[in-house]
Amino acid sequence: MRITMIGTGYVGLVSGACFSDFGHEVVCVDKDARKIELLHQNVMPIYEPGLADLVSSNVRAGRLSFTTDVAAGVKDADAVFIAVGTPSRRGDGHADLSYVFAAAREIAENITKPCVIVTKSTVPVGTGDEVERIMAEVAPNAGVMVASNPEFLREGAAIEDFKRPDRVVVGTDDPEARQVMGEIYRPLSLNKAAPLLFTGRRTAELIKYAANAFLAVKITFINEIADLCEQVGADVQEVSRGIGLDNRIGPKFLHAGPGYGGSCFPKDTLALLKTADDNDTPLRIVEATVQVNDSRKRAMGRKVIKACGGDVRGKTVAILGLTFKPNTDDMRDAPSIAIIQALQDGGAKVRAYDPEGVEQAKPMLQNVEFSANPYEAAADADAVVLVTEWDEFRALDLKRIKEGLKQPLLIDLRNVYPAEEVERAGLRGIGIGRIEPGARTDVLPEAKHGLENA
Ligand code: UDX
Repeated sequence: MRITMIGTGYVGLVSGACFSDFGHEVVCVDKDARKIELLHQNVMPIYEPGLADLVSSNVRAGRLSFTTDVAAGVKDADAVFIAVGTPSRRGDGHADLSYVFAAAREIAENITKPCVIVTKSTVPVGTGDEVERIMAEVAPNAGVMVASNPEFLREGAAIEDFKRPDRVVVGTDDPEARQVMGEIYRPLSLNKAAPLLFTGRRTAELIKYAANAFLAVKITFINEIADLCEQVGADVQEVSRGIGLDNRIGPKFLHAGPGYGGSCFPKDTLALLKTADDNDTPLRIVEATVQVNDSRKRAMGRKVIKACGGDVRGKTVAILGLTFKPNTDDMRDAPSIAIIQALQDGGAKVRAYDPEGVEQAKPMLQNVEFSANPYEAAADADAVVLVTEWDEFRALDLKRIKEGLKQPLLIDLRNVYPAEEVERAGLRGIGIGRIEPGARTDVLPEAKHGLENA
């Protein structure tokens, strides 16, 4: 199959590289000449493990190429994927579809034969209809079919997710389009890696938002349970395990932390709420999730201040990990931003270390001193806060961290370290949703009530 990918962001570049690795002939198109120039030199515009090797081997094999020229890109394509950004529209949270529609128009102006136009970008329900309308207006005789094929890959695990997805969703009622899409994804079904789920186009568009919203709800649920654990002397990791072993709940996405961030959950939950609003069908659980997650990030800053004795004026706090999760340099909606702001508002001096995110972080953070490694960040600080669970923070020499610190305090917002290990290193450890030393062991109000009535 000859495939064209419009947009070389996370989704476009990874999908394009993986499709070419399946043996398809792929042309990736981007307006950004600098990006294309760098891709020609095998310099990746994003940090994603394994991507540079995948791109270079498929370029060498002659199956993958890059261009800024839409006309050359879409010529003779069997399928043209739209994988451009759909950021939150400033002010109202609606997905900004201007890039999607501009891409559709350009494709329509340049197609040379009937093909499937596929929206891979996350787009609100009904966007496919609008793309179809644009096609009908600009290229009424081209014989194009419009399908939706949402992408579920995660940053940091993008190639693995693309090649071994839980499912592939394709939304179109057109039998010919289904056949083309079936052929494109056949390499996945050959090794029984993924069920191919054909649905209507609007259904496919909604599946993507519903999946992301559900995952955001799951994370936020366990985060609130973690807060309750701290109050009642329970352990959230054991609660997660205890509920996750129930097959109906499942063990994934039950890791309590400082709140979700990234390029998808915050944006997509907002866009889904807009769709819900526009259709007079409020999604109150998603509304609550968005609010709880937003306030959680700053609350984590207050948690650090409380751990420092309620006052951080003049104190130095070392932050380990800035990106919204490990294995990415993405800082979008990262909890570290709100945490650092809260600490600085409280008068703290902030020092930070991140393995990959510093370049992206610099324009987003003011007055932060960047360190070359975790030990340098911790030197002479009053507390260390582990914000992102990068692998290199999983086996820190805690004794060395402690020796460098002014106050022996580790606030572990990802529960990377068991409390005993922290204690053994001579540090006071504070995690998320855990029984901390000195936590309440008194009789809880409800139990007391029961006793009195006995
Ligand atoms: C997400 C979806 O997983 C993916 O399917 C979709 O295509 C895009 O959005 P991504 O944003 O790359 O992917 O990262 P993900 O690994 O899902 O993590 C999102 C956020 O949730 C991170 O901030 C992470 O730290 C947080 N998270 C995740 C938790 O706090 N706890 C968990 O148990 C899981």
